Amino acid sequence: MCVIMVFSFGILASPLARFLKPTMKPGEFFQAADMPAAVRNVEFNLTDFPADWTCRPFEFQMKYVVFNPEQEQIRKIPGFAVRIAPGNIVAFSRLCPNGRGCILNYKSESCCGCIESTVEQCICAAKRNHAILVCPSHQSTFDLTQGGRVLAGPAPRPPLQFDVIRQGDVISINRLEVGIS
Ligand code: FES
Repeated sequence: MCVIMVFSFGILASPLARFLKPTMKPGEFFQAADMPAAVRNVEFNLTDFPADWTCRPFEFQMKYVVFNPEQEQIRKIPGFAVRIAPGNIVAFSRLCPNGRGCILNYKSESCCGCIESTVEQCICAAKRNHAILVCPSHQSTFDLTQGGRVLAGPAPRPPLQFDVIRQGDVISINRLEVGIS
């Protein structure tokens, strides 16, 4: 009786597990978690950033494990890599965190024409003396020197940031921060 129960459980375990996790292969109970991963690293050379505020656009491809015939879906995330100080390169997603699919622009010299006199009151790149990211839809504005802090507009949080790894002269972007969507 006991043997029959163990046998039955053994036969049912795999289909049951695959019902609970459709992307699991037959019998592979311990396969790695379905975490999104870079299709390939984005790489730059240090010479691509000859001066502060040099901005390089890139496209980051992220692979998601999904339950479809290909068992995967590739999403393309546009980004900017920017040198904000000597040896300090940051990379941000260009997807507006306001969640409407808008693409952020890089503004290095814009002036909104406002009459605010102090840097803190004005969001202009020109008055802040460094570039910012701006959403063309509702003018959400982000400070690249402060982790993408929201300076103005309705966006609820900074744009997502990429990990930037430097090995010698090679700048490698291989991961989007946790919280990806
Ligand atoms: S969609 Fe970006 S601020 Fe509205």
